[in-house]
Amino acid sequence: MKPEELLKEAEKAAERSYSPYSNFNVGAALLCADGQVVTAGNIENRSYGLTICAERSAIVKAISMGQTKFSAMAVCCTKADYPVSPCGACRQVISEFTESDFPVYFSGMNLDDFVSTTTGELFPFDALSEMRDGKYNE
Ligand code: THU
Repeated sequence: MKPEELLKEAEKAAERSYSPYSNFNVGAALLCADGQVVTAGNIENRSYGLTICAERSAIVKAISMGQTKFSAMAVCCTKADYPVSPCGACRQVISEFTESDFPVYFSGMNLDDFVSTTTGELFPFDALSEMRDGKYNE
């Protein structure tokens, strides 16, 4: 699946965002290894700190559905005129379930203007993957 197609799914998911407090609609689309695309929007709360970003919503949803392996993720914020990158909390959660070369694409309202990156670039020196790769003793 092309990045553009996955971003389109993220854009659709942003329509179902629950963001009455920020009015900042974000959608995430997670391509699973079996080809299924799991999507979610950000889900806010009147106690602002309880807000769950689109990326974490999509990951929690996918894991709950029994998905365990992921091929790529796209994030689209339809209210921003610049590409919106995952927050620090989301970067850590993405790193829990993906390898360092896992592709992450993110955009604003203009889907053609997207950034293509990886879990490793977003979250370097990740203890989980570095221990797995045996890098601590290098
Ligand atoms: N948000 C996301 O869902 N993902 C991001 O990558 C950036 C921020 C949400 C959290 C909150 O509901 C709103 O955007 C404003 O920060």
